[in-house]
Amino acid sequence: MNSDNDLQIAGDILEVPHLLQPPREHPATVAEFVGLARSIAADRDQWAHLVRYDATTRWYHRLRTGPGYEVWLLSWVPGQGSGLHDHGPSSGVLTVLEGTLTERTGRGTRALAAGAQRVFAPGYVHEVVNDALEPAVSLHVYHPGLTQMPMHASPHCEARPVVV
Ligand SMILES: [Fe+2]
Repeated sequence: MNSDNDLQIAGDILEVPHLLQPPREHPATVAEFVGLARSIAADRDQWAHLVRYDATTRWYHRLRTGPGYEVWLLSWVPGQGSGLHDHGPSSGVLTVLEGTLTERTGRGTRALAAGAQRVFAPGYVHEVVNDALEPAVSLHVYHPGLTQMPMHASPHCEARPVVV
């Protein structure tokens, strides 16, 4: 015996079904929600043909729902932004599918290029804008589904009216 630990598997582990977790149909952990977003991002056939761009208002489409969560597809033409907001009781995963988005929070500004992901907890406050010259597409997973998006006064533009 040359093992460095005391764990030994006797016999065939695959013959011990009570130790094996069946694959879950729906995500339930942060890692699984991130994984769901990554798998959708990698499969353009699931979303690319659905994307529309609307210069008058931000376009969004509910791509999928599951027990306790929703997946939204959003597009952003240059200059469009969310305004400063939180997500009520929802936590979420933001994934950039195409283009580059800029996220502003009380801690600063960060550019999110295609493939970037942000995980946020309930109460997280941010503003997302397309400051680039090309349209952008993003995927948003909310758990639980987004029921409110309270707007906050933006410190970046004191004169901007708060939209509720
Ligand atoms: Fe948000």
